[in-house]
Amino acid sequence: MTPSRYLLTAALPYANGPVHIGHLAGCYLPADIYARYLRSKNLDVKFVCGSDEHGVPITIRAMKENKTPQEVVDHFHAIIKDSFAAMGISFDIYTRTSNEIHHKTAQDFFLNLYEKGLFEERETEQYFDEEKQTFLADRYIIGTCPVCGNPNAYGDQCEKCGSSLSPEQLINPRSALSDATPIKKKTKHWYFPLQNYEAFLQQWILEDHKNWKNNVYGQCKSWLDKGLQPRAMTRDSNWGVKVPLSDAEGKVLYVWFDAPIGYISATKELIENWADYWCKADTKLVHFIGKDNIVFHCIIFPAMLKAHGDFILPDNVPANEFLNIEGEKVSTSRNWAVWVNEYLKDFPEQQDVLRYVLCANAPETKDNDFTWKDFQDRNNSELVAIFGNFVNRTFVLMHKLCKGKVPVLHQQLLDEADKKMIEEFSATKAKIESLLEQFKFRDALYEVIDLARKGNKYMQEKQPWIEAKQTGEDGLPIAEAQIKIDNCLHICLQLCANLAIFINPFLPFTAKKMCHLMKVLDKMLEWENGGKLKLLSTGYSLRPPELLFRKIEDAEIAFQVEKLKAGLVKPLSDDTKENKKVMDIKVVDTAHEGEVAATKEEIMVKQQINFDDFSKIDLKTGTIISAKKVEKADKLLHLEIDLGFEVRTILSGIAEHYSPEEIKGKQVVVVTNLAPRKMRGIESNGMILMAEDKEGKLHFVNPEATIANGSGVS
Ligand code: MF3
Ligand code: ZN
Repeated sequence: MTPSRYLLTAALPYANGPVHIGHLAGCYLPADIYARYLRSKNLDVKFVCGSDEHGVPITIRAMKENKTPQEVVDHFHAIIKDSFAAMGISFDIYTRTSNEIHHKTAQDFFLNLYEKGLFEERETEQYFDEEKQTFLADRYIIGTCPVCGNPNAYGDQCEKCGSSLSPEQLINPRSALSDATPIKKKTKHWYFPLQNYEAFLQQWILEDHKNWKNNVYGQCKSWLDKGLQPRAMTRDSNWGVKVPLSDAEGKVLYVWFDAPIGYISATKELIENWADYWCKADTKLVHFIGKDNIVFHCIIFPAMLKAHGDFILPDNVPANEFLNIEGEKVSTSRNWAVWVNEYLKDFPEQQDVLRYVLCANAPETKDNDFTWKDFQDRNNSELVAIFGNFVNRTFVLMHKLCKGKVPVLHQQLLDEADKKMIEEFSATKAKIESLLEQFKFRDALYEVIDLARKGNKYMQEKQPWIEAKQTGEDGLPIAEAQIKIDNCLHICLQLCANLAIFINPFLPFTAKKMCHLMKVLDKMLEWENGGKLKLLSTGYSLRPPELLFRKIEDAEIAFQVEKLKAGLVKPLSDDTKENKKVMDIKVVDTAHEGEVAATKEEIMVKQQINFDDFSKIDLKTGTIISAKKVEKADKLLHLEIDLGFEVRTILSGIAEHYSPEEIKGKQVVVVTNLAPRKMRGIESNGMILMAEDKEGKLHFVNPEATIANGSGVS
């Protein structure tokens, strides 16, 4: 059954910070491509989104900055909205959950379930701040970590040792709001019995939606296999949608209850006939999200919708994985991110380059890495050298050899190469369609670029500029040559028109520029025109060439990498601040100020890690069983190390400190799970730990007594 209408949603971003490129790649860009594609087919599409303005992250930010939550969300809502608009994310509405209409919609939804008796009321004891007269979410309780003694651990986690905690475990708990010692107080909440929806979800997801992306299906399956628990749908807070019951003073809806209802509120705000989109079975509802939202969109929200009963369920939930930056996880608190508003300042008018790179490298099936180098490479060698180059060559030659007009196509005189090129138009169209319908945006974009690549190859083989040299007495190309030139450029120009149609959902700014060059209306970009040969009429004069893309220089990339690193915030726990003081004193005490200052720098350069980070490193004892110099490498020794369970080859930069003879038989500590690295043609599989003294001499770090090889070190 073909749907009568489409409703597309993209996760409502929290209005507690700007959006970064990981957000774009995760859901907004794929959703936009899909929306633009469907619209170009003249289908009925509504694409809704807005800011998620409730929840603990927002109240925390407000608290940290001494602002009201409303001030925080007002500030970021505006920034986020502008960033999306500037990037060409074509929402039909970008609203916000602090709007009246949303509060009303969410409260009505809650009441619907409440009146059916679907909630379980439960009383529990929770921490309460008497001074501020408020219950404290786990994050608002600070105390000493029972594991590592960090005096500033949070009620849900100790950021120093990484242990996840519950507020009860903290020693000397205190309120983050007032510093007062919190008391335990009874509080009532409304729980939604998710377990009652298990059978329904099992059928609906695991049986009826086997077509969902593997990452989504897999996560759902593992949640369902573990079994579902009742979940509190209310919280004690003053910020959020008030619980619409008389005995619920100081209580708001849980943010994950209200936020997805934001999709409904947004549609209501957008159109009168919103119910067609939410209640009719011939609507296709698609939620675009990032992987951290899967459980909420595939399990909790559908169970809520089912319980309510008036609404349709999503047809698909294409979630992307995460985009890392330069090999590291995005961290907004450490400012390890590429912010969209910043990008637009540094690369104005280059929205499509970012759209291109994020789509070509989208984390569709696994986490992916964004690097500035890859950004540059993809721009320079794909957009500039393939797509832009083809369009530019076509326009340059058309002006040179065809007087700036679309030449005639001599149908009867087409050769095999011409015919093959023409066939590619519709073949490519079919491939793109099928890929987009499966949410394979990367592969679809690849097909567009590949078509441009084929165009370049075709032109290179045809060489119309060589044909042009076969001139008669009048100095003009002989008739036969002119026919070849005309056919080639006619086909290349129609290919440009096709490329504009195909690239349009991905790079709308570029498609628009191409329409300008071809002097056609945007209407030409409608999908049904794709695959056709007659988009530009014979004899029509086109504009002079203009470059679609420009080269990105090394210096621009170096600047971005610098900027990323310079902006990195290295959170120092109180403890490291203490260390810093001690080191500062040492600097004053010493005669070698410069040296120690340098050392201090080095010590401070490494940021804090948590226990999980540390536990990723696999350290084991091993014995050096052979050592020899590596040819043409002054510093390297080629070592064979017995790790008990295997013998490893490791190249170590210690040749200037030790001779091969002197270290044979020595026991060492080895980092065994370091990614292999090839040096001088030899693969090194690990690293041995060395300590460096003041003079720069290296010393082995090894167990005090010789112990079995392969023993763990921690
Ligand atoms: N604000 C959430 C996040 O950024 C997403 C909310 S999606 C919605 O992870 F469906 F709840 F709106
Ligand atoms: Zn701890």
